[in-house]
Amino acid sequence: MTRLIYFIAFVIGLVIVMNISDYQGQPVSNAKFDFEKKAASNYEKQKEIHELLHPKPVEKEEKKVVVEKVLVELTTPELQNGSDLYKKCITCHGKRGEGKKSQKAPAIGGQYDWYIALQISNMKSGERINKVMNPYIRNLSEQDIKDLANYISKLPHMGK
Ligand code: HEC
Repeated sequence: MTRLIYFIAFVIGLVIVMNISDYQGQPVSNAKFDFEKKAASNYEKQKEIHELLHPKPVEKEEKKVVVEKVLVELTTPELQNGSDLYKKCITCHGKRGEGKKSQKAPAIGGQYDWYIALQISNMKSGERINKVMNPYIRNLSEQDIKDLANYISKLPHMGK
């Protein structure tokens, strides 16, 4: 009987020893306990959930409204007339009366109104010869010339 007990104890001992050596043979790995990796993946998931719960509002397209600075306040019908007539002059003298080198047109914005009126009158009468401008001033009345001169004199000084 005692022999049998010894034998069983021996077998149990043998099994235990074998198991222990078996475990020792296993490569050690901390993969299961890589908390950083786990935390990162959790973070990604949480981010995804957050994005699903709080969808980003569709970005509104920013419309650029270019507010053009009013060069001359058209407060009177005469100024309005001057502004309308000046549209024909813009190709050469520029919107602000800054002139244009390619057209050999001088800056006239902000010039004295009496000087502008005199030059236009002289060009019209032929006293001052300006062939290129002739078609644009031929049909201007005295009032038109006055209105134009008044408007141009109010443009930014020499186009600046
Ligand atoms: C085709 C181009 C052209 C157009 C359009 C034009 N100009 Fe001119 N303008 C010129 C040129 C070039 C001169 C300079 C000519 C010269 O040597 O006298 C000039 C000169 C002038 C001058 C004299 C400037 C100075 O300092 O003596 C005045 C004023 C003027 N233009 C007003 C006007 C007005 C007002 C209009 C519109 C009705 C107009 N121009 C349209 C080309 C143009």
